[in-house]
Amino acid sequence: MQERLKELQAEALEKVSAAIDLKELNDIRVAYLGKKGPITEVLKGMGKLSAEERPKMGALANEVRDQITQGITAKQVQLEEAQIQAKLAAETIDVTLPGRPVHTGNHHSLTRVVEEIEDLFIGMGYTVAEGPEVEKDYYNFEALNLPKGHPARDMQDSFYITEDILLRTHTSPVQARTMEKHEGKGPVKIICPGKVFRRDNDDATHSHQFMQIEGLVIDENIRMTDLKGTLEVFAKKMFGEEREIRLRPSFFPFTEPSVEMDISCMICSGKGCNVCKTTGWIEILGAGMVHPNVLEMAGFDSKKYTGFAFGMGAERIAMLKYGVDDIRHFYTNDSRFLKQFSIHE
Ligand code: DAH
Repeated sequence: MQERLKELQAEALEKVSAAIDLKELNDIRVAYLGKKGPITEVLKGMGKLSAEERPKMGALANEVRDQITQGITAKQVQLEEAQIQAKLAAETIDVTLPGRPVHTGNHHSLTRVVEEIEDLFIGMGYTVAEGPEVEKDYYNFEALNLPKGHPARDMQDSFYITEDILLRTHTSPVQARTMEKHEGKGPVKIICPGKVFRRDNDDATHSHQFMQIEGLVIDENIRMTDLKGTLEVFAKKMFGEEREIRLRPSFFPFTEPSVEMDISCMICSGKGCNVCKTTGWIEILGAGMVHPNVLEMAGFDSKKYTGFAFGMGAERIAMLKYGVDDIRHFYTNDSRFLKQFSIHE
C-alpha cells in the first residue's frame, strides 16, 4: 500500500509537471484527489491493516495528498503567470507605429472669409446685423431710392415671389431696416453679411445665389475721408499692407456721391497681369455717401446726420485672396476643393 501511494504521488506529480494549461491541471486534480480517485481507492483497503500501521498509512496518505496539492498549486501559479505573459505579449502596442489620421471637418472657405471680414470690422467698433433673405420690395428697392419703374432696378434682375416680395438682390435692405430701428438717432455702425439672389446664368464669375457683405456708418460729421480711411484699412488687412486703393466715380441710387474701390493688384503689384487685366488695379467693391433721400425715408434728419455705406461680394474677395478661378467651386461642394481650406493642414 505504501508503495502504491508513492507510485501514485510520482505519477500525479509527473502529469502535473507536464500539464500545459489550467484545464488539464484541473482534470489531474479531480482524477487524483477526488472522491473517486485512486488515493481514496487505496485508502479503502486500510481496514485490512493492523492498528499500528493504520495511522502511519493515514499520515502517508495525507502526505501524498499534500505533495500532490502543493505540486498542483505551484504549477497553477506558473501556468497563470504564463497566461498573463502570453496575453501581454499578444496585446503589446507598438507606440512607434504612425497613428490613423482622424478626419476632421473644416469651415467652408466662404465662411472663413466672411468671419475674417466680420472680425476686422468688429475690431473697428462695428456690430453684425442681419436681415431676411425673402424681402419686401420696399426695403430692397424703394427705401434705397429706387422707386418702382426706376431704370437702375434692371441692374439687379430679381426673383419675385409676389409683386411686393422678392428674394433680396443685395444686402443693402438691411441698411434701411437698421436705420428704421434706430428711429432717427445715430450713431449706426454695422456690418451685414448674407445671401443674395439674382436671375443670372451661372458661369465662372456669376452665380444666381452669392454672398454680400454690407457696411453702414451713420453719425454727425461722417465724411468721404472716413469712408476712404476705413476702406484702406480693410484693403490692407485683407490683401497685405503694401496694397494701395483708388476710388473711381460710379453710380448707385442709394449713395451720392458713389464710388467703386480698386486695390493695387497683389499678383503683379501694379505692373499689369491677367488677373488685373493689365491695368494694375482690381475692382473690389461699391461704396458712397448715404443719399439724403435714404436717410430721410428711414427717419433720419439728413441735415444733422451723414453716413457712408459699402457693399462687396464675399466670393470675389475669397477668389482673389485664395486664387480661385471659378465662383461655382464655392457651391459644388467638391471635397477636394473644400479640404484645401482646412486650418489643420
Ligand atoms: N448693393 C450694391 C450691389 O449689390 C453694392 C453697394 C454699393 C452697396 C454701394 C452699398 C453701396 O452699400 O454704398 O451692387
